[in-house]
Amino acid sequence: MKLITCGLPYANGKAHIGHLRTYVPADVYVRYLRMMGEEVLFICGSDCHGTPIVVNAEKEGVEPRKLVDRYHEHFKKVFSAVGVEFDYFGRTDSDYHHEMTENFVKKLIENGYVYSKEIELAYCPKCKRFLPDRYVEGICPYCGAIARGDECDQGCGRYLEPGEIKDPRCKICGSKAEFRKQKHYFFKLTAFKEFLLNYLDRVKGTENALNYAKQWVRQELKDWCITRNLEWGVRFPGENLVVYVWVDAPIGYISYTREACKEKKCDWEEIWIKGVKKDQIKWGDITHFIGLDIVYHHCIFWPAMLKGADFALPSAIVASGMVKVEGKTFSKSRGYVVWVEDDYLNRGFNPDYLRYYIVNYTSHQKDLNFSWKVFMDKVNNELIANLGNFIYRVTYFAWKNFNGDVETSEFDEEVVKAVEKARDKIIKALENWDFKVASDAFMELASFGNNYFQSNEPWELIKRDVEECTKVIANCLHLVKALVLLSYPVLPFTMKEVAEIIGLEDFRMDRVCELEKVRVIKKPKPPFKKVEKEVVEEMEKIMKERIKRAEMKKAEVVTVEDLSKLDLRIGKIVKAEKIKKSRKLVKLEVDIGDEVRQIVAGIAETYSPQELVGKEVVVVANMKPAKLMGVESRGMILAADVDGKAVLLTPEREVPVGSRVR
Ligand code: MSP
Ligand code: ZN
Repeated sequence: MKLITCGLPYANGKAHIGHLRTYVPADVYVRYLRMMGEEVLFICGSDCHGTPIVVNAEKEGVEPRKLVDRYHEHFKKVFSAVGVEFDYFGRTDSDYHHEMTENFVKKLIENGYVYSKEIELAYCPKCKRFLPDRYVEGICPYCGAIARGDECDQGCGRYLEPGEIKDPRCKICGSKAEFRKQKHYFFKLTAFKEFLLNYLDRVKGTENALNYAKQWVRQELKDWCITRNLEWGVRFPGENLVVYVWVDAPIGYISYTREACKEKKCDWEEIWIKGVKKDQIKWGDITHFIGLDIVYHHCIFWPAMLKGADFALPSAIVASGMVKVEGKTFSKSRGYVVWVEDDYLNRGFNPDYLRYYIVNYTSHQKDLNFSWKVFMDKVNNELIANLGNFIYRVTYFAWKNFNGDVETSEFDEEVVKAVEKARDKIIKALENWDFKVASDAFMELASFGNNYFQSNEPWELIKRDVEECTKVIANCLHLVKALVLLSYPVLPFTMKEVAEIIGLEDFRMDRVCELEKVRVIKKPKPPFKKVEKEVVEEMEKIMKERIKRAEMKKAEVVTVEDLSKLDLRIGKIVKAEKIKKSRKLVKLEVDIGDEVRQIVAGIAETYSPQELVGKEVVVVANMKPAKLMGVESRGMILAADVDGKAVLLTPEREVPVGSRVR
């Protein structure tokens, strides 16, 4: 039994297109393996612990479990809607997982790989608690960027140990944190250096992941703090602490296997335990699909943990590159995100389009940019104009002219060869997780089919030579069948429909090249629907608005110190004149108490110079001087923006000029 797993989604937010870069290729791979006759167990589940969940739950004022329930169901629904069909989808807050984790940790302790140590930890004197991971923000000790407690997410990307962060502040109340001593537990990662170098040299998977990991192991390994001050999580044996979320989460791969095996009647120990020997690597038939952001955890922490607790080791780690949106780094908070449910499924897009985009845009190891325009082009110019077009024109021709009943004993060598070539290429590519090459190969076969159809002109042939025409169409149907099978792992929804039209029931790789009679048994319809330009423009608009909203929200977050940088004062307009050749600008002289300032303001469309004189306004007095239409301006007047027209802010009653605005 082969075990295939995917990085467990945090159950603290909705599914987005970044997630799918792990799940879709894994699903493609599993479907392919099953077509090859392999027995596969495909598992995943929610990652329910950790501070991101606790912090979010606290913000919403609900129990962590409530939040987890919601997103757990959400992910299940989304996965099934995009055709990612796990055999088991578990949760790490379940009893069976807690039990598995506790036993695992006990084993590490028993084997001598855990020790305790007093360390200095960030503590909030106001909230009266220690501040694990996301509860604290401060400065990265390596690069000086603003960082979270456990990760320099905006700077160098390093994983940070508890207590490492500089100038910590409490995320909840904003107070300056102090450092306090507390006993915590450490995993002796440093004891695994030789093992890891050896393991990483031999494990299969994508080069990107393995190369990074080897480099990290060679450079520096530190023992790893594996306990946290939290209520929510798996309890560390005998202490009022929980294990760090990155300890218990990957153990989910094991606990979910065990649960899945209860249902499927397989043997989880066969996969994870049997045959393990102390001084050898026991290779489990286990493949992890992950994204590049969690390589450190899967290629370093996880193999060392497994080795330390006497488990089998994954034989392959497959890491995808990251997803970008419209050319920008993926970011929920900045609005560069595509939500799978709201932006995609609920708008009725075929899930196969997104699956195709994800596997075919670029090689699995590279960054993938999602853009709605490219999405439209790939669907309309590739899936529809090439693959869909061939399938439809052939099946429709056979249906209309032959009642779908076409038979030949003569298969063209070039057709047979083209199918074999495509199949071989796809098998070879998928064995190497080269999803781009594999999906290009079936598109090349579709192009071949279109050329074959076009150059044989069956619509002419049928008038002259019915027998010859029959032969051409039978050959085309052989191509159609091959295409359905070869593209099925990527396009399962669509190809199941086409399979029904040609009466194909089982999806087996060994049928691809079989020279058999293919009949059209149902009236064909075009397999894909065009993506309309208007729809894509609408999606782009939604994205732009989201980005704009995010920018405005970002701008709201200023500290008191930020605000105090502005010198805001009440001034009185003593003189006003229009600036020639400008529709909008007026030149003002404003008394701000200790001086009269010349300020140029864009308010001429709403106010005449006469009505301005005598008005009290809010002035930003420490603006950097600027020239507008050649006129110097030394300040700015505040106004409300009403559909692009300025409406001045004035004090509610007359106040002395120069009064400070606070
Ligand atoms: N909970 C951890 C994984 C624990 S595995 C024992 C986690 N969760 S996640 O929700 O952030 O990500 C789930 C999967 O999606 C991971 O494989 C991750 O690499 C992938 N991706 C999430 N966002 C991504 C992008 N923007 N781009 C590509 N893949 C990324 O990590
Ligand atoms: Zn850093």
